[in-house]
Amino acid sequence: MNDRTYIKDLADHVGASATLCGWVAKARAGGKVAFITIRDGTGLCQCVIEKNDTTADFFDEAKKLPQESSVHITGVPYADERAVGGYELRDITGCVTLGESHDYPITPKPHGVDYLMSRRHLWFRSQRQYVILRIRATIVDAIRRFYNDSGFVLIDTPIFAPAIGEGASTLFEVDYFGEEVFLAQTGQLYVEAACMAHDKVYCFGPTFRAEKSKTRRHLTEFWMVEPEIAFCGLDDVVQLAEDFVSSIVERVLRDHREDLKSLGRDVDALESIQRPFVRLTYAEAVDLLHSNRPKALLERDLEEKNHRVKDLDARVVEFEETKASAKKAWQQDKAAQEIQAAREERAELTEQISNIPTHMKLAAEFKWGTDLGGSDETIISRLHDRPVFVTHYPREVKAFYMRADRGDERVVENFDLLAPEGFGEIIGGSMREEEYDLLLERIKAHNLPVENFEWYLDLRRYGSVPHGGFGLGVERTVAWICGLKHIRETIPFPRMMGKIYP
Ligand code: 4AD
Repeated sequence: MNDRTYIKDLADHVGASATLCGWVAKARAGGKVAFITIRDGTGLCQCVIEKNDTTADFFDEAKKLPQESSVHITGVPYADERAVGGYELRDITGCVTLGESHDYPITPKPHGVDYLMSRRHLWFRSQRQYVILRIRATIVDAIRRFYNDSGFVLIDTPIFAPAIGEGASTLFEVDYFGEEVFLAQTGQLYVEAACMAHDKVYCFGPTFRAEKSKTRRHLTEFWMVEPEIAFCGLDDVVQLAEDFVSSIVERVLRDHREDLKSLGRDVDALESIQRPFVRLTYAEAVDLLHSNRPKALLERDLEEKNHRVKDLDARVVEFEETKASAKKAWQQDKAAQEIQAAREERAELTEQISNIPTHMKLAAEFKWGTDLGGSDETIISRLHDRPVFVTHYPREVKAFYMRADRGDERVVENFDLLAPEGFGEIIGGSMREEEYDLLLERIKAHNLPVENFEWYLDLRRYGSVPHGGFGLGVERTVAWICGLKHIRETIPFPRMMGKIYP
């Protein structure tokens, strides 16, 4: 529509006629006035339709417009500080329904996550989901800008991969004209090749892991950005990761401060993401897990969570009473929503409380040589208010391509970056083994078919150089920045074990 006005541009149209095209987010009406909140993808605006001669033709239909009907509404924008978005459309002269919507399944009534997930195609019209996906889009833009503006060349890597990229346990197999290939777990091996042609490169796309467990941090299809640089050492790669993550946080704080607040994110905590981040070796991380700090932290947690459970129980009783005595349907709905939210939080807390003794034991008894588990990462990251780099893991728990530390061959030159506040790993990276003999030995030690890696070994045959890089998971980054407990809301259509619809 040519003369359409977007809600984000209402400031430029105050006092003049404007036509909004959008969907009914909310509507309520009295006998002589109807309040219809429209969303149009750029914002929300309340339209106030009064019953009078001008509106006579459409008032009765407009006041009954069901949620999610699509409409054109023409009126005059007024600035109003109290209004959602700061403007209201009044003096309405036209309201046309384009697509009717009956019995829209997502109402202000409470719905469980499974119900919403199976209606993801509609759920993401809801304000909270809308905000999260806008922030995701900004993060993706910040990622591309960071690399494009710093001389990196984008290399699109293949999704059908003939060889393992990370580990055998999470491969999706595909029948490729009778040959078994895999969906890419990483683009890294290919950006390593490209790095020898262009120096600084990155790939950015979907990656696939057959994660057979349902956790709040794992998807089977997720987006990863993977820079790779040549003629560098581990410190250079770590520095790159630090600059990169800082630039993403700065950008989101610049563009989405109010959105973050609307999600309930502690914006001050994000503000404190300042360089330098914490740097720990794996050995130091193990010492930290063995110290009395995790125990003190978890004991405090236990106390706070038990307290919260009591508060929630009291809340449920209070809202049950409100619901029973409420006269209006919307008051009952609101109380029911509060009860559902309190019950969901209580269920989560009870599960967390039951896990605390195990997490305490895992930390206290952590053995050098094993990989850090989710709870260990959570503890380490909660003991710091900035992101933490953990470097130099035992080589037995890491991928075949990681470069052995020449000073201590039991460990590799790698790092994970743990986001603070318990969000855990968002980046995994390393220096790559650049010596032909050592790499060949690692390929064999991991029982990988050498013939599939001949091209990769070529990179060590012809002008090998020290090089390294990392992968940042977009969804985990969005979850951390938005303060979301679960990764499933960070991607438009999440793919997890047991979840492939819609
Ligand atoms: O540590 P990972 O497995 O590293 C790699 O794939 C390297 N090849 C990257 C590189 O050096 N170029 O994964 C990197 C990041 C993790 O830190 C995490 O953020 C994300 O990818 N990630 C996942 N995100 C969601 N669901 C999963 N199943 C994920 N697995 C990894």
